[in-house]
Amino acid sequence: MDNRPIGVLDSGMGGLTAVRELLKILPEEDIVYFGDTGRVPYGTRSAEIVTQYAMQDISFLLSKDVKLVIAACGTVTTTLPEELTGRFRFPYTGVLKPTVRTALAATRNRKIGVIATATTIRTGAYERELKRLCPEAEVISGACPLFVPLVENGYVDRQNPVTRMVAEEYLAPIRAAGVDTLILGCTHYPVIAPILADVMGEGVTLVDSGKAAADYARSMLAEAGLLTGRKSRGSCSYYVSDAPDDFARNASIFLGERFGGEVGRIEITNYPDTIV
Ligand code: DGL
Repeated sequence: MDNRPIGVLDSGMGGLTAVRELLKILPEEDIVYFGDTGRVPYGTRSAEIVTQYAMQDISFLLSKDVKLVIAACGTVTTTLPEELTGRFRFPYTGVLKPTVRTALAATRNRKIGVIATATTIRTGAYERELKRLCPEAEVISGACPLFVPLVENGYVDRQNPVTRMVAEEYLAPIRAAGVDTLILGCTHYPVIAPILADVMGEGVTLVDSGKAAADYARSMLAEAGLLTGRKSRGSCSYYVSDAPDDFARNASIFLGERFGGEVGRIEITNYPDTIV
């Protein structure tokens, strides 16, 4: 039993897709969320920069004495090398493995689409992991760099013509390949899932990487005996590196009545980019 909070990080509001699920499945847990809104997007940056930012984000969460770090960010997950994350002395999970497992359980024709940031697609991590677990899988990947700024700017309404047009353009080759499962490999994308579902058409399962990571986190905590013993509702503290009011507005649209509490601003560059 462990009453310390769960730490969740992302470059911006994408990680709220994991928080939304955590609030549903682990309502008694406390959560500390960090969105690096001052440095978003990560998904167009080099591996060196993403690694440096991610380590600072993790250092901040560790300063809040979290019992588990969830990198609810496809870009961070696929960029941090396993030699590095394997040495962490605290429980850690990213989104890649749980998302791939969920997609393989969902597919019937083994044709799987992967959409994510340019940095994530460049790593080839989703394709590698899918093929490792299912060598006969056919994987069609595409980078969708405009989705993150659209989400961060609140262009998320199902009828939004701009986001819909961009989605049509990005998803055309993936739809044409006949996939029956589409991995939303960037945690920002589930925020616009209704638009993506409309564009992909019926019969295609969308896999939410934030939700998959949250579900996996629950089993990790349960197995390690780290779930809270509290019976009352937990609290959620949000921190960002810039523009807390914008974050609060968009977060409350996304989380609805589940969103509550203050959003604090921190100076993320004050946190070390190495973890000992
Ligand atoms: N939500 C993140 C991801 O899952 C980051 C997107 C970005 O900052 O470009 O990749």
